[in-house]
Amino acid sequence: MITIQDKEFELFIQHQQIAEKISALAEKMNADYQGKCPLLIGVLNGAFVFAADLVRMLTFDHEIQFAKFSSYEGMESTGHVKVLIGINDMDIKDRDIILVEDIIDTGITMHNIVPQFKEKGARSVEIATLLMKPEKLQVELDVKYCAMEIPNEFIVGYGLDYNGMGRNYKDIYVVKK
Ligand code: IMP
Ligand code: MG
Repeated sequence: MITIQDKEFELFIQHQQIAEKISALAEKMNADYQGKCPLLIGVLNGAFVFAADLVRMLTFDHEIQFAKFSSYEGMESTGHVKVLIGINDMDIKDRDIILVEDIIDTGITMHNIVPQFKEKGARSVEIATLLMKPEKLQVELDVKYCAMEIPNEFIVGYGLDYNGMGRNYKDIYVVKK
């Protein structure tokens, strides 16, 4: 068990299992991207740990960059609109893009981001996420690469945070009720 600020968390997914799931995901991606040279874009901050482990299992040529998203209250009914920071100097045109995320929750972040890459002329845009909470998905989202699906619980570790803390744990922990 671990404590972060006011909350207690218990062990949920051990590092060994995370590694096995990422390995299976990488195999799928290796089959799909052989002979291509996609641009992976890690979504900061949470995806930095997953991205680091994932790329070392990829056997196709690729580049990796990182981008950050700021959110503001938009006019749309979806509420928060995410705006991309850091892709302006990236050459997106005609590239195969793979967005690397730590977790897809409501899906709103990715739902807002994917079109921004299409507008910049990407040839293809796919999502590779470590985790997904299918019960919480609020928008239609095509997630081609997902290592693990989890129930609707709040988790930390392996890059994921609670109030900025807990990203350093090698296992994933779930909040205690
Ligand atoms: P979405 O737009 O609702 O899909 O939000 C996805 C983002 O919310 C992720 O990139 C995380 O930063 C954050 N998030 C969602 N669920 C969790 C969780 O259980 N623990 C930590 N961060 C989370
Ligand atoms: Mg995130």
